Amino acid sequence: MNPLDLDARTGLPPHLRILADKYPRADWAGHPNFNQLTAFWLERHGMFRQVMTRVLDLTRGYIDAPRDRYAPELSRYTGFFLNELHGHHNIEDHHYFPQFNALDRRLEQGFELLDKDHHALDAHIHALAEATNRVLIAIREGQGAQDAAGALEKAQSGFQTFLERHLADEEEIIVPLILEYGSDLS
Ligand SMILES: [Fe+2]
Ligand SMILES: [Fe+2]
Repeated sequence: MNPLDLDARTGLPPHLRILADKYPRADWAGHPNFNQLTAFWLERHGMFRQVMTRVLDLTRGYIDAPRDRYAPELSRYTGFFLNELHGHHNIEDHHYFPQFNALDRRLEQGFELLDKDHHALDAHIHALAEATNRVLIAIREGQGAQDAAGALEKAQSGFQTFLERHLADEEEIIVPLILEYGSDLS
């Protein structure tokens, strides 16, 4: 396994932190090149983190104490989450990544890494959707759904770890580029 793969790494390697080290996260919002679109993009990431926590909490709540509202809520939140995440990756792949990759050759490998993350996340998205469907089917058919919910909890928890790794590293590549070069997310 490549140590820079999403499933293997614990952060960006030093050679991809050239700008991240120059612009620590705590200083981003106060920088003159930090603009509204950057703030909006970071808020989208915040929304993905929140909805991911929400679906995980729903499943853990159901495992502790099954309730009827679980299936419709799980279905609605997971559908929304996967749909929005798919659209978000699409914009990044076709719009943001090419635009920002052109700014600084030193971070080229960072964009290869982010592109590979999106492919890795695609596989995890597929697995998460399947595990979610297994729970929904078991509930609909009136079978015990505890085993399926347990498997889903594992899938959701793994997904949360990969998602957080990707979002944090993506932010630390893209926001410092915006601050350094004054480029817009447009
Ligand atoms: Fe991304
Ligand atoms: Fe993103």
